[in-house]
Amino acid sequence: MTTKRILLGVCGGIAAYKAAELVRLFRKQGAEVRVVMTASAQQFVNQLTFQALSGHAVHTSLLDAEQENAMGHINLARWADLLVVAPATANAIGKFSHGLADDLLSTLYLAALCPVYVVPAMNQAMWHKPVVQENIARLKQQGVKILGPAQGDQACGETGFGRMLEPTEICLQLCGTDNKPDLYLQGLKVLMTAGPTREPLDPVRYITNRSSGKMGYALAQAAANAGAQVTLVSGPVSLPTPEGIKRVNVESAAQMYQAVMENISECALYIGAAAVADYTPATVQTEKIKKHADDSVLVLQKTQDILAAVAAAKPRPFTVGFAAETQDLETYALDKLSRKNADMIAANWVGQAEGGFDSERNALHVYWQGGQQHLPMTEKTQLAEQLLKLIAKRLHEKNTA
Ligand code: PMT
Repeated sequence: MTTKRILLGVCGGIAAYKAAELVRLFRKQGAEVRVVMTASAQQFVNQLTFQALSGHAVHTSLLDAEQENAMGHINLARWADLLVVAPATANAIGKFSHGLADDLLSTLYLAALCPVYVVPAMNQAMWHKPVVQENIARLKQQGVKILGPAQGDQACGETGFGRMLEPTEICLQLCGTDNKPDLYLQGLKVLMTAGPTREPLDPVRYITNRSSGKMGYALAQAAANAGAQVTLVSGPVSLPTPEGIKRVNVESAAQMYQAVMENISECALYIGAAAVADYTPATVQTEKIKKHADDSVLVLQKTQDILAAVAAAKPRPFTVGFAAETQDLETYALDKLSRKNADMIAANWVGQAEGGFDSERNALHVYWQGGQQHLPMTEKTQLAEQLLKLIAKRLHEKNTA
């Protein structure tokens, strides 16, 4: 990258922990990073985290004689090739846009002569408040670049625009052409499934599960970013379609089976991340089921196993399945690997406090014949990239064996 010295301003918000990853990514790109934390940022993340990752003491105070001796705030502003504020709170944005300088970060903003990037993170209602939008417009007029925010689930439980962009996305946008995406799946045809299925009982009711589609959609986006031609067969989810992919919407396991089989030809890779119902009601009532007796028995029948069918196709793609387990993860994952004749199984714990269904983060234990790898708990977007790189490696090894 051409930018060598990045001054990272961290404001107080739940996304502050993601700024730590940003420091790591910037340094990976060869940049030197100095970190400035506001007082409220220090309530969320300990400054030692940033000190360890950046390799420099963290700057926190405008009126600290010791810090000023080490590098005064004007020198610090002059030192930087780039000032990045991530996460930027509504408060910081308000101060920057009105020229207020009552702490180190806002003073540095005024003193900085280098390009400034502001990465907002806040509650969606705050983001949409006219006064915040006016402040953003004012910053843009001052030449500041605004990155994001992204849309999605928020820490406060609401959904909408206001999430901080993922560190990888920020790094990609800032490091530009010097950080060209690694097109390790260039031209490869990839078919994936994501989300839950809905098994109808009658015109108004269905059986489903807790899958949000986040894991599968992250994989689809990561594969498209890596140059693959992606078709995503999706159960009903409320996620936007990732850029550059073909999405086929389905509801039931039977519809998912049909859509997969229709799109499987010439695919080099299949990834089954959908939580497909194992059983479906034996009969679907044409009218709403009425309440009669105190008890009612539901007769279910097995659905077709899509993963096993793909692995049995001729020619067959490199076939990757998931295993969602609440117990004996390894035993069940290895059983699925051999019983469904998959090339790989990515197993995850579900029903736990973190990870699995409907969570931003996840961890995976990946198994294949004669090998395994643990991918620790992280954002699903990052985990997807790690899993895809592992899949690409195994696929290449299989094709060249
Ligand atoms: O969607 P999220 O909220 O982000 O959550 C992600 C996830 C937990 C759903 C995902 O990481 C995951 O584990 N997906 C697979 C869930 C599942 O159905 O697991 P399973 O162990 O029941 O099935 C094993 C494999 O067989 C899966 O690849 C599944 O897609 C496949 N299968 C299952 C039944 C069936 N009829 N056909 C299939 O292809």
